Amino acid sequence: MIPQDFVDQLLSRVDIVDVVDRYVPLKKGGQNYLACCPFHKEKSPSFTVSPSKQFYHCFGCGAHGSAIGFVMEYQGLGFVDAVKLLAEGIGMQVPDSRAHANPEASRAARERKLSLEQIMQMAAGYYKQQLKSAPNAISYLKGRGLSGEVAGRFGLGFAPDGWQNLDTVFPDYQDDKLVDTGLVIVNEEKGQRYDRFRDRVMFPIRNQRGAIIGFGGRVMGKGEPKYLNSPETPLFEKGRELYGLYEARQAIRDKNRVLVVEGYMDVVALAQFGVGYAVATLGTATTGEHVRKLMRHADQVYFCFDGDKAGQKAAWRALENSLPQLQDGKALNFLFLPQEHDPDSYIREFGAEAFEKVLEEQSLPLSVYFTRELCREVNLTTPEGKADLIRQAAPLLAQIAAPALGFIIKKRLAELAGVDVDEFDMLTTGQRKSERKGKREHRLPEVSHRPPQSSMVTRLIKWLLLNPGWAGDVRLPDSMALSDELACFAMLAECVQGHDQPPNTAQLMESLRGTPYEGLVDSVLQQAMQDPDEFADPSEEDRQQFQDGAAKLLKMLHQTQVERLKQKDRNEGLTPEEVRLLGELLRDLLAPNA
Ligand code: UTP
Ligand code: MN
Repeated sequence: MIPQDFVDQLLSRVDIVDVVDRYVPLKKGGQNYLACCPFHKEKSPSFTVSPSKQFYHCFGCGAHGSAIGFVMEYQGLGFVDAVKLLAEGIGMQVPDSRAHANPEASRAARERKLSLEQIMQMAAGYYKQQLKSAPNAISYLKGRGLSGEVAGRFGLGFAPDGWQNLDTVFPDYQDDKLVDTGLVIVNEEKGQRYDRFRDRVMFPIRNQRGAIIGFGGRVMGKGEPKYLNSPETPLFEKGRELYGLYEARQAIRDKNRVLVVEGYMDVVALAQFGVGYAVATLGTATTGEHVRKLMRHADQVYFCFDGDKAGQKAAWRALENSLPQLQDGKALNFLFLPQEHDPDSYIREFGAEAFEKVLEEQSLPLSVYFTRELCREVNLTTPEGKADLIRQAAPLLAQIAAPALGFIIKKRLAELAGVDVDEFDMLTTGQRKSERKGKREHRLPEVSHRPPQSSMVTRLIKWLLLNPGWAGDVRLPDSMALSDELACFAMLAECVQGHDQPPNTAQLMESLRGTPYEGLVDSVLQQAMQDPDEFADPSEEDRQQFQDGAAKLLKMLHQTQVERLKQKDRNEGLTPEEVRLLGELLRDLLAPNA
């Protein structure tokens, strides 16, 4: 959505030291800046910010990234929002394809959006005010065990009975914006308008910035529907939003853990009892977007579902939608409460300590839940059952985005089916060749048997990332199939060469965001940064090693390619293009300084 060029410019203009310092005061220490890490608890500072690399790294917990990454992590924002925030800070205008087409319309849309938020804010204030003078609603909430403190924290309110109460807040009740927010409903036939929420306890739903974007309204006592929710509006998209995320942010960060439950009441009750890191989906299935968002906030994600059939089904849906989002280094877990309980009733009956104990001791890691569910359906004592397991597992495994976890799960399933991983692969790819093709591109590269020069290439990638100026004229042949590491190295070198001035580490790293190499670059940096010396200036010797390494690599690649071309020549002959290429390669290889 945001052009790479813009990201690149932003990173060359923004100074990560200023950015971080705004949130976490930094102290100068040598060439770098230091602070206690905001992402984990520590007493002595191991959080380091490098002005020359425009990169931060914590030697304690391994958190690292560019200014964009920092804002995403610290503020819990998505990439686009983080870029916008940084750009605003230095007065850069984020190019928006729609804005170019019609600047007027986009400003109008922005203003409109703002005022929809204001309307929601005013409505929430009104509902909150009304709760104070509604003894029935207060006693309903008290009856459910809620404290005044927690009701205030979540901004609970009350929508009184009556058809047009909101006209006391909004004198122009006919304003279409009221309809756009979902607060007012138009009866198309009669043209009449009326309040959506009547005689209900109101739960305001906030987005990550804290703006109110929707409401859930509960009947007091019996009545249908039990919860009435705001419809999807320009402000409110249920597949992306999580109830309670704004309120839970600090607790999530402190615990590096987030718990996903099913209900509004669950979130509020858990918070009241001291489990502040819970959020709820909004009466919808857990989407991939939800999972992505959750993983940005914490490394440990727990889903807690009721023990009934519906809960089982919701859990499996959540698992399916999670697979393409999984990352090594993040863990998803599933907790099933006893049939008769939801988190609200459980924590009231047994307390926070007991709740956290079951959460920690009884939730199933995704891998275990996944394997268990697949095996539940089949009879593993028969070859037919084993074959069925392979058939059912294959399409799901193919979606797992975390290379290491995906491999481990596959290995376990292969074992259960009595085959080895290679056989498993052969069976499943043979069976699903046609379906696989389209999918491939969206997935991270699979773990393959690493070629022997892999560690050397990884080292070269590391040096290049830390010293982009070194790329000089490293150029890899683009006419051959490269391993992931090599392709990554080639892309980085190309990125450097596309700049007049060598870019910094942050720019280089961000240039691969969203490509299949993002994870590789990340893990290389992560490893490199284990050693504080990497933050220092490199020596001339390092540089020499890099250049020798790159030259050796290039030569090896050329040789491999020459061998391939020769073999093809013997077997099926070469195209004129290949003949020319072979000629060039041979000439290079024979050149005196090669
Ligand atoms: P539950 O029926 O489990 O309700 O619905 P709950 O959260 O335990 O509520 P209490 O304790 O009876 O007050 C779980 C979630 O499903 C959505 C809501 O988001 C609710 O919190 N839901 C449920 C609706 O949207 N509408 C309904 O009518 C029911
Ligand atoms: Mn409940």
